[in-house]
Amino acid sequence: MARRKKIYEGKAKIMYEGPEPGTLVQYFKDDATAFNAEKRATIEGKGVLNNRLSEFFMKGLTQIGVPNHFIKRINMREQLIRSVEIIPLEVIVRNFAAGSLSTRMGLAEGTALPRPIVEFCLKDDKLGDPLVSEEHITAFGWATQQDLDDMVSLALRVNDFMSGLMLAVGIKLVDFKIEIGRIWDNDFQRLIVADEISPDSCRLWDIETGQKLDKDVFRRDLGNLTDAYTEVARRLGVLPSNVTHATKPTLIN
Ligand code: C5P
Repeated sequence: MARRKKIYEGKAKIMYEGPEPGTLVQYFKDDATAFNAEKRATIEGKGVLNNRLSEFFMKGLTQIGVPNHFIKRINMREQLIRSVEIIPLEVIVRNFAAGSLSTRMGLAEGTALPRPIVEFCLKDDKLGDPLVSEEHITAFGWATQQDLDDMVSLALRVNDFMSGLMLAVGIKLVDFKIEIGRIWDNDFQRLIVADEISPDSCRLWDIETGQKLDKDVFRRDLGNLTDAYTEVARRLGVLPSNVTHATKPTLIN
């Protein structure tokens, strides 16, 4: 049998050539990294959960008209996606202070922000993904002013959708990161949400207890990461509510 072509391998995912032009197969690994890959581990079950959660969020976004790369889930670890030209920026939206914003601004974690704040970081592991301004982005040609306006608008729509979804299951969406890609319809480009949306790329806190249900559990050694992600999936109805053991999640089709 012919081996499919690997296009790219990242820290948490592998991209393979898709069955049709303009498509890719996105494979979710169990690998977790933090602090620019200085900390690494393999966490059994993480890839399966993120595949299913990213499907759930992207399908919801499609339902409210937010364009994204998701086509369909293929199996436990793989989904078919549209191939995009990734804009080399991480788009971060913050509702409450945490992580690098708290460090940079001296704000206590959990401080409510006056409004959602959108930040851009350059996707460059060697440089540690530095924060960049709109001036840098347009001057260096990573994106145009129109792209920036479209990216902010997409990011804020994702924020409203994700915040509401999480609020309904007792979770506070503190912040998250998305990546955005270009697709071409003849000479016209459109920007769509790409990569993944999962607890790897969000900060999710239980509203009542403040318990962290995201990748900070791994970054800060706060317990079992798969248990945290399973709890998010269970609350959202992505996993059956009687799941107690996290290592082999049962998926609902
Ligand atoms: O570390 P920082 O506070 O800037 O992260 C903000 C948000 O972006 C967090 O939800 C974090 O999980 C996410 N993020 C990410 N990938 C990165 C950097 C941040 O998913 N490379």
